[in-house]
Amino acid sequence: MTILVTGANGQVGQEFRRLAMDPALAFLFTGRDELDITDRGAVLRYFETHRPTHCINCAAYTAVDRAESEPGAAAALNENGAANLAYACALSSTRLIHLSTDYVFDGRGNRPYVETDPTGPTGIYGATKLAGERRCREEDPQSIVIRTSWVFSSYGSNFVKTMLRLMTERDQVRVVNDQHGCPTYAADLADSILHIIRAGEWTPGIYHIANEGETTWFQLAMEIRDRCGLTCAVEPIGTAGFPTAARRPAYSVLDTEKIRSVYGLAPRHWKEALADCLGRLGHRM
Ligand SMILES: NC(=O)c1ccc[n+]([C@@H]2O[C@H](COP(=O)([O-])OP(=O)(O)OC[C@H]3O[C@@H](n4cnc5c(N)ncnc54)[C@H](OP(=O)(O)O)[C@@H]3O)[C@@H](O)[C@H]2O)c1
Repeated sequence: MTILVTGANGQVGQEFRRLAMDPALAFLFTGRDELDITDRGAVLRYFETHRPTHCINCAAYTAVDRAESEPGAAAALNENGAANLAYACALSSTRLIHLSTDYVFDGRGNRPYVETDPTGPTGIYGATKLAGERRCREEDPQSIVIRTSWVFSSYGSNFVKTMLRLMTERDQVRVVNDQHGCPTYAADLADSILHIIRAGEWTPGIYHIANEGETTWFQLAMEIRDRCGLTCAVEPIGTAGFPTAARRPAYSVLDTEKIRSVYGLAPRHWKEALADCLGRLGHRM
């Protein structure tokens, strides 16, 4: 098996670099400089030369607020880039796993979203990711699309790392307490994806993968603070008190029953995953 990981310098991509020890798996890691997925010709040439058996697309335009003022750039990557990979995968019978997001939902639900629930993105990022999902499934009906949520890791920038920094710099932070979702450790997500690849059985379609349990950004911040023994005051605020360019879904909890039943995955609780991530960041309690 030769597994191409695109966007390999991002949060999730870097977790695959850590997992690359398995001698049964050969990886090809590409950042934007090695393979720009918005360039269809370059994608086709890359596939022709390297002939991967699997492709995990971790490349994405993930700046949720900036996307509001750069819809063309977000679509070029999240929609057309995804379509380019799906087209190349279909041509070469390469198994594609494409990553998507809980932000495809409108957030007005009050029970965990299943894969077949109606979508309704609240911003450009979610809209371009939804378009990318559709293009993947159209270009390559054998593709697997994985929606995940609230990704954190020891790499790149994410909520956990931002909170750790702010809580050591300040006496008080204010954190939104009316958005509900499932934090997901990029390392667990990468493990789950390799589990799918190793499973042998390939069942195309859309799946949700997130760590177990739901929370709010405020509760997540409190957990980080308490686990790290920090003393910074954490004040809950409403979304209205923290205006952002993009509107986020108020509720984007993902139901993970499908991936459990089809692939036998059992994601651990986000608090356990958070403890591991904090340990990796040097905060062992
Ligand atoms: N982060 C989250 O909270 C979250 C939540 C739900 C779903 N997701 C999804 O999970 C996936 C992985 O997210 P992530 O957090 O790992 O994202 P990330 O850290 O932002 O990584 C994305 C990577 O894509 C690369 N990239 C940008 N333009 C490219 C191009 N034209 N060709 C190839 N690569 C390009 C970026 O490279 P540069 O660094 O050079 O720009 C970056 O390394 C994405 O599909 C995202 O939508 C993320």
